[in-house]
Amino acid sequence: MADVTIPAGKYMVDPYLDWSRREGVPIHEDFGLDLLGVETRPWPRYGVNGAIVHVKGRGDCMTVFLLDIPPGGRTAPQQHIFEAAFYVLSGHGSATVDRYAGERHQFEWGPASVFAPPLNTRYQLFNTSGREPARIAVSCNLPAVLNLFHNEKFVFDNPAVFPEREGAQAHFSGEGDFIPIKPGKHMWETNFLPDARRFKLHEWGARGAGASHIQVILADGVLHCHISEMPVGTYKKAHRHAPDVHVYIISGEGYSLLFYEGDKEMTRVDWGPGWVFAPPDMMFHQHFNSGAEPVRYIAFTQGSVRYPLTEQMRRVYARIDQDMKKGGNQIEYRDQDARVHAMFVAELARKGLVPKMEPFA
Ligand SMILES: [Fe+2]
Repeated sequence: MADVTIPAGKYMVDPYLDWSRREGVPIHEDFGLDLLGVETRPWPRYGVNGAIVHVKGRGDCMTVFLLDIPPGGRTAPQQHIFEAAFYVLSGHGSATVDRYAGERHQFEWGPASVFAPPLNTRYQLFNTSGREPARIAVSCNLPAVLNLFHNEKFVFDNPAVFPEREGAQAHFSGEGDFIPIKPGKHMWETNFLPDARRFKLHEWGARGAGASHIQVILADGVLHCHISEMPVGTYKKAHRHAPDVHVYIISGEGYSLLFYEGDKEMTRVDWGPGWVFAPPDMMFHQHFNSGAEPVRYIAFTQGSVRYPLTEQMRRVYARIDQDMKKGGNQIEYRDQDARVHAMFVAELARKGLVPKMEPFA
């Protein structure tokens, strides 16, 4: 076959990746990363230093931006047709969000704050400390939107309004609405969660030993967010789902094992506060608390229990905590590889800790 020179922009185009390379900031790629340790450089779009993070389990829809706001600094104002959920890794500051009609909300954020400006509202972030920098992770679905429309003006300079997503006034000040569904699916609806470290979670025993959980609906968007906690001396059951679920460790230390059905070997990722990783598509993953404190983490993806978006997600969410032997997507403790528990016991012994799994066996 003769060599063919393919004209640029005519074949296998990925508008999001092309955009990300043009932004001029470092793009960090790995299975998992310590977000507190990665390099940032000036990002003209945001007016502060930043970086882009692509983890291995990233799917087609989500990406992560890192923003560093210097002491006394501020981002450039932003407005865009993609959903963005902000998770504060470190530092203190404030945010302004302008409703479509012009009314301005202002709220104060700090470590482990979570917030999402309603779609295409104008917002700006400020570091209110005179000494301490602030680092913020932004989980967003720009890849999905830019690859669908491949038109940057549509995404970044669009007058469309979505008043049905603005939410109640109180949703900008840290209040919210609890919407009971069932264990593992209870929702908290808001635009701003002041401190994910202290937010009340609800029991979800079917997911694993002493597990607790809440689904967070942010600005009535299609981004999924949940917060989970594992008590000391415990680990969760292995489960699997679609890719793109970015897991951020809020507090505690531990590791995750990842493997595909039938694999002889497992991949291990050790993590602590500030780490992010995403289990690849339908790869089983199992989280272990191997430290002396509870482990709490927060996860973001596109497609929520409110707006699942895909048939696969509807199917997986419906059976996320059901035994895979009965058609679900979870491995019960009694069926897991014997090496899994042995590794956990050895890991704790090394640190002088004891497992507390007996009541759940
Ligand atoms: Fe998961």
